[in-house]
Amino acid sequence: MRRAVGAALLIASVVSTSAGEPRGLASFEVSGDSIAKPLDGRIGDAERGRSIVIDRRGGNCLICHRVPAPDEPFQGDLGPDLGGIGGRLTEAQIRLRLIDASRLNAETLMPPYHRVEGLARVAKEFDGRPVLTAAEIEDVVAWLVTLK
Ligand code: HEC
Repeated sequence: MRRAVGAALLIASVVSTSAGEPRGLASFEVSGDSIAKPLDGRIGDAERGRSIVIDRRGGNCLICHRVPAPDEPFQGDLGPDLGGIGGRLTEAQIRLRLIDASRLNAETLMPPYHRVEGLARVAKEFDGRPVLTAAEIEDVVAWLVTLK
């Protein structure tokens, strides 16, 4: 119970740290545990993806995950270590897990980064906006696939 409340707060803080102008949701097609096509047909930029993952105000991934970035302090261990993720999962599998991991596990603590409906406790000004845009999702995917 404590854990569930903590997770809801964490997720709310992740969601409410996103900023910027109104952003839409890209459409996508789920097949099995994957989303094969890049959102909006974009080609991600791995360097930008790395910055998004490490940025505490952006993806805020490091409150829950470790990544191979030894200079970054205070990496989390609520989720799996993302080192080697590009060897364990395909690009398409990584894309689905970022967009909406709850499609695979309804109880997951992994926040849905490109979903707007069904989010608990979203600050009003962030209502209707995904945490990461289609372009940002593709940037993060582009970096994670390089982690072999
Ligand atoms: C609130 C904690 C939390 C945050 C924040 C978070 N994750 Fe996760 N993530 C998890 C958990 C927990 C899992 C394990 C999946 C599950 O339990 O369903 C996971 C799973 C994943 C997976 C699949 C890993 C595997 O081995 O199957 C990827 C990829 C991932 N997260 C990437 C990210 C990225 C990139 C970010 C930031 C944009 C992020 N996560 C932010 C908690 C989090």
